[in-house]
Amino acid sequence: MSRGLFITLEGLDGSGKTTQINRLSTWLKQRGHAPLVTRQPGGTATGDRIRSLVLDSRSTGLAPMAEMALMFADRAQAIAEVIEPALKAGQIVLCDRFTDSTEAYQGGGRELGSSVVLELHRLLCGNLQPGLTLLLLPGLEASLARARHRNQRTADENGADENRFEQEQEAFYRRVWQKYREIAAREPARVVLIEGDLSIDEVHERIVEAVSERLAGSIRALRTD
Ligand code: TYD
Repeated sequence: MSRGLFITLEGLDGSGKTTQINRLSTWLKQRGHAPLVTRQPGGTATGDRIRSLVLDSRSTGLAPMAEMALMFADRAQAIAEVIEPALKAGQIVLCDRFTDSTEAYQGGGRELGSSVVLELHRLLCGNLQPGLTLLLLPGLEASLARARHRNQRTADENGADENRFEQEQEAFYRRVWQKYREIAAREPARVVLIEGDLSIDEVHERIVEAVSERLAGSIRALRTD
């Protein structure tokens, strides 16, 4: 059984990742794949509990290091319980956020720096690397407006409060943005940067192009094995 393909989606809050991951999943299913879709934080029973703790705006005074440790606790659990077994079984895994989020938000936004994040990733996550990362970076203003609108709607509909990050100031998001760009420049072979204010269809097309290339690449690699 050949190993599955691990694809992550990254971007600022409100960048449209969730819509795109659902469309990509449908696209893959239409081509006979059975992708596993998951997200971070969350995606396991333990992870969902960590998610409510870390995203709830009532979690006041959470130290940046504690926040980062919780993100990694969630991730280590997700890798062990969901991601690694699926990859071993040859499945495509689509993950909404992964360690690039920790590097961008805690490393950049919270100013903890990249090296501690990368080191923890090696220690706690076996340095698991995505085969492909789709980084959606529409205009900062547009992203923030969408995130505010969406979180307000979620709170109105079911009382869930996932606003802790949305309450951050613009300077925080600029640092997150900057760090994402740094990651893309550092790892051009893994990270496909999709920037600008594109329509949902245009973003989907870019994503499909990048994923098709990777899939063709892994089939070629199998044939030459
Ligand atoms: P989520 O509702 O998944 O946001 P979105 O739909 O915008 O992706 O919330 C995840 C939030 O958690 C988001 O603000 C980014 C933050 N986050 C981190 O700060 N570090 C991390 O390692 C991860 C995975 C998420």
